[in-house]
Amino acid sequence: MIQYLVDNSKNLKEIFTNLKIPAPSLIISSPPYFDILNYEDNKDQIGYGQNIYQDYLNDIVSIFQNCYEISSENSTFWLIIDTYRRDGETRTLPFDINSEFKRKYHTNSWKLKEVIIWDKEKNLPWNGTGKFKNQFEYILFFSKSEDFVFNIDSVREIDDLKKWWKTYPERYNPDGKAPSNIWQFTNPLRGWGNGKQNHLCPFPFPLVEKIISIATNPGDLVLDPFAGSGSVLAISELMDRNAIGIDINAKYYSLFKNEVQHGAKEYWEKRTKEINQNRQNILQFKKTNLKLRKLKSISNICSHLNTINDSEFIYLAIDNLNSKTINLLVVSNRIVDLTIENEKISDLLRQTKVKVDVNIINEKTAKSEFKGITLYKYKYDRFYSYTTTTRIKNIVTRKASDCFTYFYTDISVKIE
Ligand SMILES: C[S@@+](CC[C@H](N)C(=O)[O-])C[C@H]1O[C@@H](n2cnc3c(N)ncnc32)[C@H](O)[C@@H]1O
Repeated sequence: MIQYLVDNSKNLKEIFTNLKIPAPSLIISSPPYFDILNYEDNKDQIGYGQNIYQDYLNDIVSIFQNCYEISSENSTFWLIIDTYRRDGETRTLPFDINSEFKRKYHTNSWKLKEVIIWDKEKNLPWNGTGKFKNQFEYILFFSKSEDFVFNIDSVREIDDLKKWWKTYPERYNPDGKAPSNIWQFTNPLRGWGNGKQNHLCPFPFPLVEKIISIATNPGDLVLDPFAGSGSVLAISELMDRNAIGIDINAKYYSLFKNEVQHGAKEYWEKRTKEINQNRQNILQFKKTNLKLRKLKSISNICSHLNTINDSEFIYLAIDNLNSKTINLLVVSNRIVDLTIENEKISDLLRQTKVKVDVNIINEKTAKSEFKGITLYKYKYDRFYSYTTTTRIKNIVTRKASDCFTYFYTDISVKIE
């Protein structure tokens, strides 16, 4: 359930008590920025018309402290906020708020966990008098206790992998990349479909979605005490979360009802398809990454066995599907030294997390045991792409020089 309340956030505690609203587990908010923007000339608004910075700071800090007091023990607070310039000097509003929490409430207030840079990619036209184009804003992430929801796996991605993902599979998390503390989202500068910008600084939907994914589970309650366009409410609803938004301007409630909810719906329809596709891609990536880890481990062990035996053998690596173990068979009719006490290989196996069982098999047994099975032939240094397919009978009858620096396996990977 979502509720957009037109009210003064200074009354937050009374609102929660009177309406018997349960404890929120996530607060996402962006307060008015001191006296920079005028929201509909509202005489009760915080920020605009407040000449004294400390008065303004007291107001917003006390509202966020009230959020702390009414929220659940495992709650988090994500404050989206910028610095501003006054009298030629940059004022560090985000960090002033954090210092006020400490100064006034000591340990009984929000604990700053992370500072995230929101890279807006594009922004309003730049006026270059002694400053750079302002392209980022801060996201301060606070928690109430050490026990908070942090679903990092829900926002993993595999886009934009570096070129060497195939040669260094052990360096990649098979579940995808964890997000960094720089987030890129463009501002919804053209509104929600009608081409107009009807609120001064609405959150982009993807930004809200990302925070909700990380910081809540379905059914949790999200609060925005400065709701504005209501993007937090609209996205919460679509993600099966409950939400309460408070804003002093009734006009923004109409904007929320008439435009933002519709815009969010359109966004979510497109987005759910992308999320499903991303899930499929990650599953596929996970499978390929495990295969690459096995192939890399095998290729290094084969090369090592060649070195310590001063000879080259036919190697058959037989996969244990879905497990992290692989059987490596050295096809030989004579004794082979199978010791793999080698620092480089131990390090690699620790990183690939693959267990390799090495055994000897004689040619005759290999021929009968793997008869009819398709085997893929790999060069040691190109373990991510097989060169050709073959059968056991063609391998054991090969000329010795044909098989050097190759191994054969039932794992098929071809990445160019
Ligand atoms: C930076 S905007 C929030 C924008 C919002 N995050 C969004 O996605 O649209 C700040 C909002 O605070 C509201 N506001 C200012 N003083 C207020 C007060 N005392 N109580 C509640 N809302 C207030 C303004 O009307 C404005 O919509």
